[in-house]
Amino acid sequence: MKDFKRTLITTALPYANGPVHIGHLAGVYVPADIYARYLRLRGEEVLLIGGSDEHGVPITIKARKEGVTPQDIVDRYHNIIKDSFKEFGISFDVYGRTTSETHRRTASDFFRRLYDKGEFVEKTSLQLYDEQAQQFLADRYVTGTCPHCGNPSAYGDQCEACGTSLNATDLIDPRSTITGSVPVLRETTHFYLPLDKWQKPLEKWILDDHQEWKTNVYGQCKSWLDMGLQPRAVSRDLDWGIPVPVDGNEGKVLYVWFDAPIGYISNTIDLVGDDYTKWWKDPETRMLHFIGKDNIVFHCIVFPAMLMADGSFNLPDNVPANEFLNLEDDKISTSRNWAVWLHEYLRDFPGKQDVLRYVLTANAPETKDNNFTWKDFQARNNSELVAILGNFVNRAIVLTHKYFDGIVPAAGELTEAETSLIEDVKKLKEELTEALDTFHFREALRLAMDMARAGNKYLQETEPWKVAKTDMARTATILNTAIQMCANLSIAFEPFLPFMSAKLVKMLGEDHITWDMLGCFDLVPAGAELGEPELLFEKIEDSTVEAQVQKLLDTKKANEEAAWKPAPVKEDCSFEDFEKLDIRVGKILECSKVKKSKKLLRFLIDDGMEKRTILSGIAQSYPDPEALVGKEVCFIANFPPRVMMGIESQGMIMSAVNPDGTLTLISPSAEVRPGAQVG
Ligand code: 2FM
Ligand code: ZN
Repeated sequence: MKDFKRTLITTALPYANGPVHIGHLAGVYVPADIYARYLRLRGEEVLLIGGSDEHGVPITIKARKEGVTPQDIVDRYHNIIKDSFKEFGISFDVYGRTTSETHRRTASDFFRRLYDKGEFVEKTSLQLYDEQAQQFLADRYVTGTCPHCGNPSAYGDQCEACGTSLNATDLIDPRSTITGSVPVLRETTHFYLPLDKWQKPLEKWILDDHQEWKTNVYGQCKSWLDMGLQPRAVSRDLDWGIPVPVDGNEGKVLYVWFDAPIGYISNTIDLVGDDYTKWWKDPETRMLHFIGKDNIVFHCIVFPAMLMADGSFNLPDNVPANEFLNLEDDKISTSRNWAVWLHEYLRDFPGKQDVLRYVLTANAPETKDNNFTWKDFQARNNSELVAILGNFVNRAIVLTHKYFDGIVPAAGELTEAETSLIEDVKKLKEELTEALDTFHFREALRLAMDMARAGNKYLQETEPWKVAKTDMARTATILNTAIQMCANLSIAFEPFLPFMSAKLVKMLGEDHITWDMLGCFDLVPAGAELGEPELLFEKIEDSTVEAQVQKLLDTKKANEEAAWKPAPVKEDCSFEDFEKLDIRVGKILECSKVKKSKKLLRFLIDDGMEKRTILSGIAQSYPDPEALVGKEVCFIANFPPRVMMGIESQGMIMSAVNPDGTLTLISPSAEVRPGAQVG
């Protein structure tokens, strides 16, 4: 790798139209923070740049829905997002916003420079226009029938029923969501960045010169390049955004994906002023973009093409994009409220930021989509953070208090146990450094945990609590080594668990830590007084995670109810056809589960004449079948008998289908004689 003097780390700017969730943290902000903290420990010059993306159509839609201005929306969420990141210890040097004056000026100047250099082409096309509202309609502002699946409420950019990407002009019977009127086609002219012009330089820069990029990133870029790049519109007809700085273009703004990445530059300017050129233009600065996979094309193709068109900026050295995190086996979704929101986590788990950082890193979606479950969260806390890391540190510090009044004893002669521990730590440091350097954060965290495991193994083998009965000099050596080991852990874990590390540093009385110190066993001098032992982690109870799972189940239920629509009425059925059905009321005499079947219940029904057995697939809706005995139900009496699981079923019990797929038995509203006909 080329030698660089400093590193500029950018993190995708989240849209300020909702709070941030665990997917954001796992995919972008925790990995970027780990890397920035690691570089700082190495004494490198580094900036971690963040901020909110405050333009774009979804923000205007949300504002319209709530009857407030887009500025109200972004003010609200920018602050919530910024606070969440701060609480989670994401160590931004700056967290800006794209509605700032610096950003407006920077993005506007950038556009103007490209315009003056003749880097845009202007093209006229037909777009949908709402004559009543007197405005062009962004794709999201149009609904209509999907030409692929017939869904009557597809959006202009995508049909959520069949997942197809659409253009608003593809929709059948399009309607404006602003006024409900039928939009007309009208000509509009926009600025396009001719990506085709940059095809060759991009191919060389990525495909030849950056083969070391992660395979998911490289692969996505290659497939875009293989398809052949097309010009991209970089302006929009919209009243929310940065005005196009070219006369005669009133009512047009910069496309959000044009201005957002320039936000990295403006936020740097907000932080360091004119010195920003050192961070953006000096070839000895290395730039890294931390993003999620949906942003790859913008950071590896579109933004670099903009930077190439300008000609004075560095290109990113790497874009270590992650895949997505799912939640309890389902895609995280803001609109379905299927997420663990960071501000809610902070409320429900105060002081446990590191636990989430740990679990999200251990499960980071580095090479493929990954899954977060509350059970795994609990297991990793209890059996890794508490049982391995917390347990080792606690034993080392408590024993030093017990045998040496909290004063670090001097070590005597080292034995094989100590030298082999020191060797292990040095080797782990090498591997850990290599994993961090290559953005393999899951692996790096596992190696840091291996260090804590080595500490536990050392105490287990040397048993200072037994040795103390006979040999205080040897006990001193063991506990000195254990305390040095704690100091090593405070360094190795700092990038991952900064709150734990700070607590540990304080307990050990270290004045500062650096990556160079990792692997040294003289970090806490003999005679130093340790702070009071404090538990680093505590066990998480079943009931705590069960409450979180219940919250998600409630969300799922609420979503299903909200999405539920009665099925369309079937085609006409004649009275004669209806009369053929013999529907009756019967009384349940017995009800039990059918062995080896998850679905079936076996009913014994009094039908007024005799007892009949009926099987019904409602076991999952009635977990306590016994409780049904004595109730009356409606059933179809004249279905031919059918054998299921070796039992003959003589009829069909009627039930209603609920939105969540559960079934409810149909009973008369007052008691009637078994055998009574229903009609
Ligand atoms: O996907 C998103 O959430 C975008 N707001 C990311 C923008 S990244 C950068 F370009 F600012
Ligand atoms: Zn469709």
